[in-house]
Amino acid sequence: MPKVLKKGFAYICIQMKTKIGIDINLAYELLVRGEVVAIPTETVYGLASNGLNEDAIKKIFEAKNRPLTNPLILHFSDIESIEPYVIDIPEELKNLTNQFWPGPLTILLKKNKLVPEIITAGQDRVAVRIPSHSTTLELLKKLNFPLAAPSANPYGMISPTRVEHVFNQLSGKIPYILDGGECNNGLESTIVGMENNEVIIYRLGSISVEQIEEVIVKNVNLKTHSETLPVTSGMVKHHYAPSTPLFYIDEHLKNSESSNDGFIFFKEDFLGVNEKLILSPSGLLEEAAQKLYDALHLMDQKKFNRIFIEKFPEFGLGRSINDRLNRATAKFEK
Ligand code: TXA
Ligand code: MG
Repeated sequence: MPKVLKKGFAYICIQMKTKIGIDINLAYELLVRGEVVAIPTETVYGLASNGLNEDAIKKIFEAKNRPLTNPLILHFSDIESIEPYVIDIPEELKNLTNQFWPGPLTILLKKNKLVPEIITAGQDRVAVRIPSHSTTLELLKKLNFPLAAPSANPYGMISPTRVEHVFNQLSGKIPYILDGGECNNGLESTIVGMENNEVIIYRLGSISVEQIEEVIVKNVNLKTHSETLPVTSGMVKHHYAPSTPLFYIDEHLKNSESSNDGFIFFKEDFLGVNEKLILSPSGLLEEAAQKLYDALHLMDQKKFNRIFIEKFPEFGLGRSINDRLNRATAKFEK
């Protein structure tokens, strides 16, 4: 954490040096000492600390500037190490974990008192997941505590899928970024839980609605919009946003021409513009999802007046992508 020293009337902010490397042992030692470390996962980079140590957990909130009302996911290496922290795992959720763990699925389970209140923001369920990135799985196996880890971006901004994204957004605030290459999935985990014996999706993510329904063999309920008390922070309307105003191509383009706009397309440039990124020329939603945040980071750095992006087909991962884009564009709606 940067230290703020009071000297006379001036405040001097001492930033810490942020290193990037592939040293799992160094990451391990920092975490054991109660520091925060950015870690790779298959979805996005996470900002991790000891999930049982309140002081270490607070450092995550400080580095991200995240409100304490927003709960964190606990990351484990295997199911056996989750069991001491929860009351039980309902059968339907177990079926989902059998299918998708290790991987981009997070489940909400009734917690017991071993889970610190700050992790769940006072809620009675804790979010848990077993990530599949080999570096982070190795790290988790060495540790004798779970890792609390939100996405490694300042609160409300775009999640990082490369080491550079983490560095650009959090350098000076964290000691170490464990480099695990580019994230394979590129969208956050899908969050599910149970209410009245029904499976609910609380956040759309790297596992599609269709994939969940195939396992539970029935329709799933979605509770991904809440303006009042958000169960998950991804439920708030403005989130996942770049600094540059972001709009869908269809809505805002006609009214105002500008020579300094950037465009992001799914498969092809149907407008014939100069400044563009095409996420998947072969039209694969998985590939587009994997590249989405990187494209937004890149476009944001170019300091365009505006970024325009195509709306995705409303199925499979297209639905998860649109969910993020709806929230990101909402920030710039008049
Ligand atoms: O893919 C991911 O899930 C990444 C990687 C690093 O694992 N993590 C991630 O964390 O996206 P975060 O904090 O950026 O988003 C987690 C979401 C938040 O919206 C939070 O509100 C919700 O999960 N959440 C966490 N614990 C919860 C709980 N006990 N009840 C309800 N929602 C919870
Ligand atoms: Mg996040």
